[in-house]
Amino acid sequence: MELDGKTAVITGGASGIGLATAKQFAAAQVNLVLGDIEEAALEKVVDDLRGDGAHVIGLRTDVSVEDDVIALRDAALAEFGAAHVVFNNAGVAAGGAAIGTPTAIWNWLLSVNLDGVIHGLNAFVPLFLEQNVGHVVNTASLAGLGGAPGMGSYCASKFAVVGLSESLFQELLLSGKDVGVSVLCPGFVKTRIHESERNMPNELVSCNEDPVARMIAEMATTAVNAGIDASEVAAAVENAVRTNKFWILPHERSALRTTELRLEWMRGGPPMRFDLMGATQP
Ligand SMILES: NC(=O)c1ccc[n+]([C@@H]2O[C@H](COP(=O)([O-])OP(=O)(O)OC[C@H]3O[C@@H](n4cnc5c(N)ncnc54)[C@H](O)[C@@H]3O)[C@@H](O)[C@H]2O)c1
Repeated sequence: MELDGKTAVITGGASGIGLATAKQFAAAQVNLVLGDIEEAALEKVVDDLRGDGAHVIGLRTDVSVEDDVIALRDAALAEFGAAHVVFNNAGVAAGGAAIGTPTAIWNWLLSVNLDGVIHGLNAFVPLFLEQNVGHVVNTASLAGLGGAPGMGSYCASKFAVVGLSESLFQELLLSGKDVGVSVLCPGFVKTRIHESERNMPNELVSCNEDPVARMIAEMATTAVNAGIDASEVAAAVENAVRTNKFWILPHERSALRTTELRLEWMRGGPPMRFDLMGATQP
């Protein structure tokens, strides 16, 4: 897709990968509609981007609420008359081992990481099909390509996003329309993802104080801080939209290795072992 003058909607646009991609798209003359649950952070980002000459609006959006995502689409149509790219990127990571994670934490995490993507698809794909132009980018993770200890709920949400994106790819192929989809599967990236608790409903914070969850959070913080810069991910996202590329693998070596190890495991080889620090390097 030629990006100049197009309109992109980015969820989770006030921080990390979403913000870096907003800057990347702004430099390519893309109109921006940013949604984020953190209103103050979003306002600041919108002001800063406008100061740099970008055409951008922001709308407080909780992606777990379908009406909020529909309102984000309608804001894009009202302000710019169109939407061409949706980046379903907002996400959270907190606690979440396969054993012992409270149901309330599971529900919260899935409502953002999975329902948020579903709401984005429901709001934008019919529009893209109707106008016969559009591109969807869904943020999954390396955690959507292989299981990891202590990350059961996060991995479940990200495997779901990969499966959903692959299914959408097949459906779009059958539709014959000029609408594309990409799935973003990064390893660790230096963002605020390890501080996701900031967006957790207050009543859930105490559920997340389990010692195992705390230990995992500390390890994740070390890995995130050793990760790649979000601008590298943003460049890969822009390239995938321009070239209609399905897999976005900023940590390509780790993604391919994980997948090869799973294949060997399926064929009767040794079980895959998760390599935390390996997932920090491209
Ligand atoms: N940072 C990493 O190492 C990494 C690796 C793989 C995948 N990811 C994924 O990348 C995506 C972006 O995360 P990030 O790393 O930039 O983290 P981040 O915390 O810096 O940014 C996430 C943004 O999403 C927003 N958000 C959270 N809940 C929301 C909700 N309910 N509705 C709307 N906005 C909400 C936050 O306010 C924040 O601005 C997430 O889906 C995350 O799972 C991150």
